[in-house]
Amino acid sequence: MAFVHKRSERTPLMQKTKVPAKVIAELNRQMNHELSAAHGYRGLALWCSDLNLKGFAAYFAKQAAEELAHAEKISKHLDDRGVMPELAAIAAPKQNFKSLFDAAQHALGMEQANTEGINAVYEAALAAKDYPSQVLMQWFINEQVEEEAWATEMVERVQSATCAGSLSDLDRHIERLLADEAKS
Ligand code: FEO
Repeated sequence: MAFVHKRSERTPLMQKTKVPAKVIAELNRQMNHELSAAHGYRGLALWCSDLNLKGFAAYFAKQAAEELAHAEKISKHLDDRGVMPELAAIAAPKQNFKSLFDAAQHALGMEQANTEGINAVYEAALAAKDYPSQVLMQWFINEQVEEEAWATEMVERVQSATCAGSLSDLDRHIERLLADEAKS
């Protein structure tokens, strides 16, 4: 089709917006990190589902969808700026946990690692004076404050639910919260 053209065929003016190489590398790395986090949350959701912890399973599945949306946000940023995002291989996620506390801590660890990744992109964007990536990363930096807050709260709540009965109550509580959220 006549209107289909490759990026390499763009005129110099069309190619004018350049993303610094270091920032491209960092954005690609972080995009793949977000995809890997989605895979990690999927592993957590399946483990919870296997234990009939439906509330936690639904919560982790929702987080998996959010991580995919984060990866998409970075992918779109690169694509909008004329750079084809590069997908990398994703390792199998952890799918076995000693306890729900162990699983909750794993989720917190994933969020902390994600924050470090976001900060690294931001530092590269600052060093390269790449303003669009800085603005994008500011959104992610704010998001990580929330994500780490809920993950920490989850670890604390699971830790204080000392018996099977209270864990089951907590699971039902999460299930109800998500159902209410879906209705609103
Ligand atoms: Fe993409 Fe949980 O942060």
